[in-house]
Amino acid sequence: MSKLPAVSEPLFVTKPVLPDLNIYFEMLKEVWASSRLTNNGPKHSLLEANLKDTLKAKNISLFNNGTIALMIACQSLQLSGEVITTPFTFPATPHVLTWNNIKPLFCDIDPLTLNIDAERIESLITPQTKGILAVHVFGTPCDVVKIQEVADRYKLRVVYDAAHAFGVEIGGRGVGTYGDISMFSFHATKLFHTAEGGALTFNDENLKTRIDLLKNFGIKNEEEVAMPGINGKMNEIQAALGLALLGCIDAEKIKRKKVADAYRHYLGGIEGITIVFQELPDVTPSYQYFVIRISASTFGSSRDEVFDRLRMNNIYARKYFFPLCSNYPSYQHLPTANPVNLQVANNAAKEVLALPFYGDLSDSDIEKICHIIIGKNS
Ligand SMILES: Cc1ncc(COP(=O)(O)O)c(C=O)c1O
Repeated sequence: MSKLPAVSEPLFVTKPVLPDLNIYFEMLKEVWASSRLTNNGPKHSLLEANLKDTLKAKNISLFNNGTIALMIACQSLQLSGEVITTPFTFPATPHVLTWNNIKPLFCDIDPLTLNIDAERIESLITPQTKGILAVHVFGTPCDVVKIQEVADRYKLRVVYDAAHAFGVEIGGRGVGTYGDISMFSFHATKLFHTAEGGALTFNDENLKTRIDLLKNFGIKNEEEVAMPGINGKMNEIQAALGLALLGCIDAEKIKRKKVADAYRHYLGGIEGITIVFQELPDVTPSYQYFVIRISASTFGSSRDEVFDRLRMNNIYARKYFFPLCSNYPSYQHLPTANPVNLQVANNAAKEVLALPFYGDLSDSDIEKICHIIIGKNS
């Protein structure tokens, strides 16, 4: 690689996929004509049906965002006491437990997938433990078989935070069909999005009534309020955006695959840099993030030095996930937050870097980013 000029426009970690504005406008005209803006309108019903197919889910319920969806997943299963989770995640994951008055028990992660280490879950179980909240980090599926085996043995519920895992399949089976409930986020940073939004998928059809009540204040009909619900409804403007976007996702994935291949070309084989994003046999990938790990001792620069170097060059990579949730002031006092028991996660949090990753990222920008990472444009 020769020395290249710095990028002129800032490059962010992602850029939302946007549909053709005319297609969205046509959908909005239909929303205007219907005069229905929310409360299970026609666009919401259509998107729900389409996503059920796309995600190969047995049942689905749409939400105004992924965090509220996860809150309701815990409520619908009446989770209480303690739930085993990963510290290597976005703040929403443990916060949802706290908002449900549940104590998170942090479990260390697998060094390769960066997902909860299924082999360690059992050692954390106490008589108060009622569930496992695992995250398919960066879209890589958890060890769903082992997790279910432990859950069955101890009669624990399993909830998956599948915020990063849109379209992920294991051997042709939708990732949202594992465990009791899975949550997908449709935030603007996600491959498929509705600006803000989310969904729960679940196999037990009896949960559908309860989940749909919980996201609508518990209102059963004009004269009955069955339970203390919240407002988790996706509106028609969001649903129309989702419908307009659904047709763009396959093309975006093809473009992202090319971006991933280009990153691999420049960064593969460089000592001290590990590419976390891996295409696994039998797994349909999410193409949600492109993440690398930087070992300071082998590579010669730390993750933070590389991050700063990129920033000086107008490139905004992200330290996903730093700080580690178990080190937040709200959780660091917990016995399971002790870094001694979370060594893999603490090391990962110091080394990971999510690089700009979206279909429109040009070859020359990828080359520049890699130049700067390697230290040729410092
Ligand atoms: C792992 C994970 N869980 C939960 C969320 C929260 O989802 P939302 O932003 O849709 O509320 C996010 C981020 O968006 C996430 O990355």
